[in-house]
Amino acid sequence: MGDPLFLDSRFTELYDSQAAWKRRREYCFYMELVMSAGSVLDVGCGTGELLHLAREAGHTGRLCGVDPADAMLQHARTRPDVEWILGDAASAAWDQEFDLVVMTGHAIQAIIDDENIKASLAAIRSALTEQGRFVVETRNPTLRAWEKWTPDHVSEFFDPNGALVRTWYEIDTVDGDVVTVTSTYTSSGWNQPRIARSSLRFLDLNSLNAFLSDAGLAIEEQFGDWDRQPLTDTSPEIITIARRV
Ligand SMILES: C[S@@+](CC[C@H](N)C(=O)[O-])C[C@H]1O[C@@H](n2cnc3c(N)ncnc32)[C@H](O)[C@@H]1O
Repeated sequence: MGDPLFLDSRFTELYDSQAAWKRRREYCFYMELVMSAGSVLDVGCGTGELLHLAREAGHTGRLCGVDPADAMLQHARTRPDVEWILGDAASAAWDQEFDLVVMTGHAIQAIIDDENIKASLAAIRSALTEQGRFVVETRNPTLRAWEKWTPDHVSEFFDPNGALVRTWYEIDTVDGDVVTVTSTYTSSGWNQPRIARSSLRFLDLNSLNAFLSDAGLAIEEQFGDWDRQPLTDTSPEIITIARRV
């Protein structure tokens, strides 16, 4: 089952306004990697904005995005000079075709169960060329970011029509490393709030590294933030660059 937020066009039409790549702290980190790779697979590409920007910036090689949410891919498909595939990470069946595979926007956190994580990483490994690299990020659970996801932490952004949207989160459950959260969006232009529930897995460093290593992916570098700071217990992110073993 996919995340309801990304399966429903009432939310996906807001995604690029809320999470515009050019405003993100990780924008330069990923653009540098993507622009220097001959072929790129974006797993959990969502609305595909990263690959759109790469093409606009002059990337001439193969760019391919895969995502299980058709409502997200509808936005991606506005650029036909990139391949867009409907599917989840585990169903990817490429054989040594990509120099770079990325999973951005904490997409791996949407994969909850162990078997699905293993199948997804195995498929990603297969998709990598011999010297290819896989870049994956997850929020560092030591910071317990979800504890700040409360209704008094409201964010605001403008929707594509220029109407102000307010959004906040409320934690429903924390079950081991799986956090289930309700997202509420309101706007003066709507009759009622838009509400969706999703679950995210907060893998700790040891668990993440074990999944990668079991999948035949060797860690080349790990950073704690988008400026390539070393990873520490208090880093906000666990950003990993891995290679096929
Ligand atoms: C937070 S969005 C990130 C989208 C995009 N990568 C970005 O950085 O803006 C998470 C994406 O992961 C996708 N997703 C959920 N489960 C997935 C899976 N099993 N395999 C691949 N993608 C998945 C969702 O459909 C959604 O588009």
